[in-house]
Order: sequence, then structure tokens, then C-alpha cells
Amino acid sequence: MTSNIIDGKKLSQSIREDIKKQIETRIAQGKSQPGLATILVGDDPASRTYVRNKLRACDAVGIRNISYELPQDTSQEELDALIKQLNNNPDVTGILLQLPLPKHLDEESLLAAIKLIKDVDGFNPINVGRIALRGIAPVFVPCTPAGILELLREYEAPIAGANAVVVGRSNIVGMPLALLLTKENATVTICHSKTKNLPEITRQADILIVAIGKPEFITADMVKPGAYVIDVGINSVDDSSRKSGYRLVGDVAFDEVAQVAKAITPVPGGVGPMTIAMLLKNTMRALELAEQ
Ligand code: GUN
Repeated sequence: MTSNIIDGKKLSQSIREDIKKQIETRIAQGKSQPGLATILVGDDPASRTYVRNKLRACDAVGIRNISYELPQDTSQEELDALIKQLNNNPDVTGILLQLPLPKHLDEESLLAAIKLIKDVDGFNPINVGRIALRGIAPVFVPCTPAGILELLREYEAPIAGANAVVVGRSNIVGMPLALLLTKENATVTICHSKTKNLPEITRQADILIVAIGKPEFITADMVKPGAYVIDVGINSVDDSSRKSGYRLVGDVAFDEVAQVAKAITPVPGGVGPMTIAMLLKNTMRALELAEQ
């Protein structure tokens, strides 16, 4: 094992233990528990796994949870009505609408319908706008970007003044992360499928964050020696040597990049567990906001 691994599993466990204690203390004091409602539409297997992991993590720390699993053909009106009902339910302190949604649904208007103080994913467009604005704090920091920032802080990566390159511009990870790193005074470049000379740009990165969903796309020759490398990808690739017939790899060719990076997140065990830990943290924050 390389010694420069950024251990998301370990950090996430300590955050989870901390939250568990906070909830135990609340219960001992007769205070209410946080409650998370998750909404999953359709039967995308990856989304199903993500939601299941989130619910298990809630159970483990004492966050009450209600899971809505709705059919693929659920209408906009039905979802809108469910979100309104959850917005008005005081036992539900956080609402998570798992993405992506089936194509016939209008994602933006559904995310906008989630009450700002229950928007534990931070995907309400008003919250996203607040991320972009200087001097204004978002109500919630989206979970994966929040987890990445926690990892960079924990491993003492200098952020202010660093060249940070974010490969991928999704609404869930790349774009909010680029905005947050800018707020942290990094010099940020966002790369995407139309970027020219990508390796030339990634080689400038003191902090390289990759979220494109392409297995082992970033190779050692694309990485500056001494860079912090954060791999957001979770890709399943065929592997006949495994009983399951597959293995999970990131967007970064881990073994070779680990040879040049100052520090690197593994897949699994890097960003993934931190996303869940940040969801739990945001759900605690939602409870505090509900009590204000
Ligand atoms: N789909 C992939 N990641 C996420 C996430 O963090 N939250 C939600 N709601 N959907 C996702």
C-alpha cells in the first residue's frame, strides 16, 4: 500500500461517530432527532445503491429516515405534491431527491420546490446561486464538494493560491466544487469534454479533481509531481479474476498516479464515504435551522 493515500473512510468514520454522539446527547436531553426523507424515482441500479448506503448511514447514527421509492413513470405533479408534503412535515428535517431523474421530469423545478432549509444536498438553484456569490454563504454545501474540501483540509493541502484543475462540470460535483475552490482563493480551471490539450492543463494542477465517469482516464503523465489528486469517479469494469466478475475503479489510474502524486484518494474508500458523511452533517445542520 502506498503511504500517500487520502483515507476518506477513516475521516468519514470519525465524522459519523461524532454525529452519532450528538444525536445520542439530544435524545438523552429529550430533544428531537433529525429526519431525512429520500426520494428515488425509477430503477437505476447505481442510484438505488447510493440511496441504500445513505439510508444505512442514517440508521447507524440515529437519523430517522423515510424512503420513497417511486416508479419510473411518476409524474411531475405527483413528485411536486410529495415534496410540498415533506416541506410541511416537521418530522422531516431534510429532503434528498436522488439524481438523475427520468428524462420526462423537470429536475430544476423539483429541486427549486425543496424548502431551502431542508435542502440537504444543496441543489436548490437559490442555494447554488449563493455558492457562486462572493461574500454570501450557501445554506448547504453540496455533499461531494463538501467532502472533498474536508479531505483537502484534513491532509493540509494548501488551497489559497494553488492551481486547482477540476475535470468535469456537472451540477452535482464539478461546477459547485470549482465555485467553492474559487471562494477558498484557489486559481481554478474547469475542464470538460470540449477542452483542448487537457494533459497540458492537468499538468499545471497543484490540486487535480476528476469527476468525469471514465475509468482510469487520468494517467501519470497527466499529473504534476507532488499534486493532490482527488478521484470522484466510481466505475465498474469487467474483471474475470474476481468472483463478482467486476471491480470498481476511479477516473484516475491509481497505481501509476500514486507514484507521482503527493497524495491521492483511492476508489473505493476516498470521496464516496465522505459524500455520505457530509449528508449526515448537512442533515444535522438542517435540524439546527429548523429549530432557529
Ligand atoms: N446523484 C449522484 N450523486 C448524488 C448526490 O450527492 N445527491 C443526489 N441527490 N443525487 C446524486
